[in-house]
Amino acid sequence: MNTFTLNDGTKVPQIGFGTYQVTGDDGSAAIKAAVEAGYRFFDTASLYETERVLGRTLKESGIPREDFIIETKLWIDEMTDPRAALERSLRRLGTDYVNIYMIHWPRATGKADEPWKEQDLETYGIMERLVEEGKVRRLGLSNFLPHHLKNILENCRIKPVADQLELHPGYSQEAAVAYCQANDVLPIAWSPFGRGDQNSTTANTILMDLAARYGKTAHQINLRFLLQKGILPIPKASSPEHIRANLDVFDFNLSEDEIPMLSCMPQTTWLGEHPDYCIPQKASNPDNI
Ligand SMILES: NC(=O)c1ccc[n+]([C@@H]2O[C@H](COP(=O)([O-])OP(=O)(O)OC[C@H]3O[C@@H](n4cnc5c(N)ncnc54)[C@H](OP(=O)(O)O)[C@@H]3O)[C@@H](O)[C@H]2O)c1
Repeated sequence: MNTFTLNDGTKVPQIGFGTYQVTGDDGSAAIKAAVEAGYRFFDTASLYETERVLGRTLKESGIPREDFIIETKLWIDEMTDPRAALERSLRRLGTDYVNIYMIHWPRATGKADEPWKEQDLETYGIMERLVEEGKVRRLGLSNFLPHHLKNILENCRIKPVADQLELHPGYSQEAAVAYCQANDVLPIAWSPFGRGDQNSTTANTILMDLAARYGKTAHQINLRFLLQKGILPIPKASSPEHIRANLDVFDFNLSEDEIPMLSCMPQTTWLGEHPDYCIPQKASNPDNI
């Protein structure tokens, strides 16, 4: 597969596999199909409760651990003790290191007087030590808008390699992408299909017209757009056809006129969680140790 180069020189496959809701036997079957289709980059998080099934299924593939990139994240209620959070993730994944370890959300409480800058730096500082100890290869962030990312970039010793954001033509967050790219931080697109919502980008006329023009699906146009914008998508799929189709996007190029048509299309949907104003009310599962 084609690769993107991270700011530490590491090459990563241009498409990863998302594992939110990829649970149980069905989840294991989807991950197995993804490995067989050629995915080597897998995204999970302690919140998803998919680390265990991911670690087990990758091990069962018989493919060496070093061939996989495993990306996981600590949740907001784990920010005060990243070391313990990582130990739990490593145990569930059945591995002794993760390739990319992310702070899942930039604000732990969302209260107006929350000292989020200090909390982010404290959490990130401990994560830097985990890199030095070899339990984490590199660090990343998730849902960090430019002001959150700036705080880290101005104070870190080890630069984050990536920032995971909700990104697709229907919610393109151009300012956040531009800030990441200006600072050599790879934008990773979560929910690259807007989670398959009927009103999402994939039902948009522009995407459907381009799909007909290239003999592809709207989902594939969506992925191709992200790739050409220098964004690494991590689609989730459970159907083997979708899993394979989402890698079949390297044999065509959108033209330089078509990219702005998609960049400027109406903003049709988003998952509705703003990093500053809508702090997810979920808690990590204390039994998930
Ligand atoms: N950092 C964060 O805060 C955050 C938040 C949300 C998600 N994420 C990550 O991003 C990953 C992807 O996002 P997501 O799971 O929310 O949703 P998504 O990838 O945008 O959409 C998944 C949906 O699209 C369908 N689909 C996939 N490929 C398709 C294709 N080629 N044709 C038609 N339909 C297709 C899937 O159907 P089938 O399952 O039936 O195949 C599923 O219903 C997550 O799994 C997770 O790893 C991160």
